Amino acid sequence: MKSLAGKIALVTGGSQGIGLATVQALLAAEATVITCGRSLDKWKLAIAQNPALCTVDFHAVDLTLPSELKAWFASVRRTHGRLDIAVNNFASSARGIGGFSKLSDGEISAAMHAGLLAPLACLREEILLMQLGTRGGAIVNVSSINGLRATPGAAVYSAAKHGIEGITKSLALEVIGQGIRINAVAPGVTLTPSWEARLAAAESPSALKASVEQMVPLKRFADADEIANAIVWLCSDAASYVVGHTLVVDGGLSQA
Ligand SMILES: NC(=O)c1ccc[n+]([C@@H]2O[C@H](COP(=O)([O-])OP(=O)(O)OC[C@H]3O[C@@H](n4cnc5c(N)ncnc54)[C@H](OP(=O)(O)O)[C@@H]3O)[C@@H](O)[C@H]2O)c1
Repeated sequence: MKSLAGKIALVTGGSQGIGLATVQALLAAEATVITCGRSLDKWKLAIAQNPALCTVDFHAVDLTLPSELKAWFASVRRTHGRLDIAVNNFASSARGIGGFSKLSDGEISAAMHAGLLAPLACLREEILLMQLGTRGGAIVNVSSINGLRATPGAAVYSAAKHGIEGITKSLALEVIGQGIRINAVAPGVTLTPSWEARLAAAESPSALKASVEQMVPLKRFADADEIANAIVWLCSDAASYVVGHTLVVDGGLSQA
């Protein structure tokens, strides 16, 4: 991986899973890293497991609350003055999973807010920060293979991720003239704490895990690091000619 020394990189939701793996990969590439999550305790646990994370500028922020989102980006602007790299990764547990007709208005609206509207608000703030300088920047939106294909039983999550796909393409063309490259990564099933919790809640965690693995041509879940590697590559100059693209990292699942 090329060095990202001198670059200022922000990751939303970097205290566990794909976000944490991305923070660690950006740190390893020598970037200055900024991240957030709602729970400070979760972040302290991450530092206890990897003390190198203590150099990361972490803030406890709930990105579904517009006032907290605005205040966080204002503090990033005050502290760092600009942004070179941004990864829109956070996902809330309010994903609107379940039979569509059984979801309440509140559940649908919370899932669309966390899955699409809050990431859009982050994107706008990131672009404004990148426009402060003349260096441009690179943004990666974390989508999903559910943003590329039908997902019965998770239609609202799928709708939000299709929205992420749409904004990635349109906005990429809107801002590329200013040197800002926007792309997306679409992970397949990835063994993060959210999936671990889902397996733990199943009647038979091992049977559910085996049935999911069976569907993947590679016959296993992805590690969060495998998704982070793709994200960091898209953020780097090695991907300098890649614009408005979705890099699918799914062990072949979406082709099966
Ligand atoms: N795992 C998969 O199989 C998979 C597959 C396809 C796509 N994806 C996508 O990949 C991304 C990451 O997934 P993941 O499985 O790594 O997620 P995860 O394990 O649930 O981690 C989510 C991260 O976001 C933070 N977060 C949650 N709600 C937040 C909020 N309101 N404000 C700020 N931070 C918040 C969490 O910290 P706190 O809880 O402390 O806030 C945590 O650091 C998501 O966009 C997801 O849709 C995942």
